[in-house]
Amino acid sequence: MSPSVSLEGAGEILRPPRDGLRHLRGDELQRQTLRPGGLALRDGAIAALQADPLAELTVDAAGCAVVPGFVDCHTHLPFVGWRAGEYEQKLRGVPYEEISRGGGGIAASARALRESSDELVLAQSSRLAAEMLACGTTTFECKSGYGLSREGEMRSLVLARELEIGVLQTTVSTALLAHAVPAGFTADEWMGVVQAMMPEVLSAGSVTALDIFVESIAFSNRHLELMGELAASAGLALRCHVEQFASHRSVPVALAAGARSVDHLSMIDPDDIHELAQAQCAAVLLPAAEFLGGEHRAPGRALLDAGAIVVLATDANPGTAPVVSIPVVIGLGARLYGLSVREALGAATLNAAWVLGLEHDRGSIEVGKRADVLLLDGPAEMIAYRFGRNPVAIAFIGGEPVYVRDRASADRLRRS
Ligand code: NIG
Ligand code: FE
Repeated sequence: MSPSVSLEGAGEILRPPRDGLRHLRGDELQRQTLRPGGLALRDGAIAALQADPLAELTVDAAGCAVVPGFVDCHTHLPFVGWRAGEYEQKLRGVPYEEISRGGGGIAASARALRESSDELVLAQSSRLAAEMLACGTTTFECKSGYGLSREGEMRSLVLARELEIGVLQTTVSTALLAHAVPAGFTADEWMGVVQAMMPEVLSAGSVTALDIFVESIAFSNRHLELMGELAASAGLALRCHVEQFASHRSVPVALAAGARSVDHLSMIDPDDIHELAQAQCAAVLLPAAEFLGGEHRAPGRALLDAGAIVVLATDANPGTAPVVSIPVVIGLGARLYGLSVREALGAATLNAAWVLGLEHDRGSIEVGKRADVLLLDGPAEMIAYRFGRNPVAIAFIGGEPVYVRDRASADRLRRS
């Protein structure tokens, strides 16, 4: 049982404009408040928006911001190995598609996965989950997608579930069953395999969404429609990697297919912004992939101003974004898209929780929600300003102080 906790004298507590919002659009993001105050955590939940003099654990939050635990709704864990050599190639101007056609890219990580033991995959992924926690991520998404065979994809989904058992965060699994076309198949043939393996995917128990990568080197809008049908008949959410390297006008197709989110959007056609902004579909922006890949910049500001459910996530993967830090992503999102830190924080908390279907339970500081909260070691605006620095001093998951950065952070805790 987690101790009762009283966070006292915080300089800022991030709160939504009002309770019960499922996500934040347009100026709702900027209307989040950052006011001084206290917070009480009890029985794993947020109990009151004020300090609790009777709590077992007191936290001196003077000078600190208290924000919801970060929700990273787009990662490619579990994976194994890295592809630093490809990054060197990219720095010299070789495009991702060329690296991919030459046997690198997703296929290289699929080989590494195939050749590694479960223990090795879980060891690397658990280490990354620990890094994520130190950077404030209290909930994250896992994807398959490096299996590239029926058995490989199922193994990946099982590994994702095993990873959850070994880490402190909540994880949610997405079956990215159409990531690259496996050798020996045409894209159409592989989609036939995907269709045939759906009962097996559903019996894996923990999958909540299907995902697909639409690109010249991967799948087409037609396959996106089919994935949408599979998701709908299985009662799963549809996620998709679209408009990353080139525009394929996949956004209207994804919306018609009922997608929960469209992710990347670096090359979204300007004519599709309005329709996306009106939809119950999130625009998941991945600025680390854009920055490190020298990709185009998604129109983040325009999407937000048009009223889209804008989300920020890491895209943590060994290829396009070997980045696990949401504070880094907030800093990049602020600079690249012109978001305020308040907007970026809402994008990486409540809006990200909505993508994962967890917004009723987490993603904002509201009484009754799970006590996943972070104590930052300064005001929220420092996250973007001191770019690259990790501001997380203490991370609480379900009211438990599961990460305490250092002696100075520990000194803020007092047991009564
Ligand atoms: O989200 N775009 C497709 N998938 C990943 C990259 C995967 C990889 O390169 O290993 C992404 O960027
Ligand atoms: Fe991705």
